Amino acid sequence: MDHLKSDDTILSKNNDTQDLIHNGISDDEDCFTDHISPEDYLMFRRSVGWSVFPIEEARLSLENSIVICIRKQGRPVAIGRVVTDKGYIVYIADIIVLPEYQGQGYGRKIMEKIMKDINESLKPGYSVMVSLSSAKGKEGFYEKFGFLYRPNEDVGHGMYQWIRNESKENRI
Ligand SMILES: CC(C)(COP(=O)(O)OP(=O)(O)OC[C@H]1O[C@@H](n2cnc3c(N)ncnc32)[C@H](O)[C@@H]1OP(=O)(O)O)[C@@H](O)C(=O)NCCC(=O)NCCS
Repeated sequence: MDHLKSDDTILSKNNDTQDLIHNGISDDEDCFTDHISPEDYLMFRRSVGWSVFPIEEARLSLENSIVICIRKQGRPVAIGRVVTDKGYIVYIADIIVLPEYQGQGYGRKIMEKIMKDINESLKPGYSVMVSLSSAKGKEGFYEKFGFLYRPNEDVGHGMYQWIRNESKENRI
């Protein structure tokens, strides 16, 4: 299946000639890009109090996912990532708006872009299950984009675990 491939959606990587891939939002200084550096990615995670990883692990995460970033005058202010098996599984991760830019519509712009591109990438008759793990207290934000709470009468709780290698060389 070809969901979210670089040739049919702006949720793309490997498009070196188009650094700035879209400029469809109200402020002319804002633009979407499809990449962020591992250093900036970890800066985003730190800015909202999330755990950080070794830089090489961050790089792998970015290389193997689709990145959406909003930049103001070149500076990244909001990010989101999409991980997909290119079949029916799509996972949304790391929706983060820098604290000083929160509450100004950037989170909505990131989510609207992701949901629009997922919808546009779907071939006739295809369907995908889009899932995410909400941070505590952010469920209402995702509800605005059609996400359903778990558990409900059809499905159980979402579940997760972290697995860590505590060896010293892996710490940062
Ligand atoms: C959650 C987050 C991404 C929202 O981004 P934002 O730019 O602050 O949100 P926006 O200004 O775009 O708000 C969009 C809409 O969501 C609503 N909203 C924002 N945060 C909300 C929350 N915690 N609960 C319910 N609704 C929320 C807004 O009221 C707004 O509603 P409207 O468009 O209908 O008026 C941002 O606060 C953030 O980065 N938080 C820290 C990291 C985090 O927890 N990310 C979520 C990971 S699962």
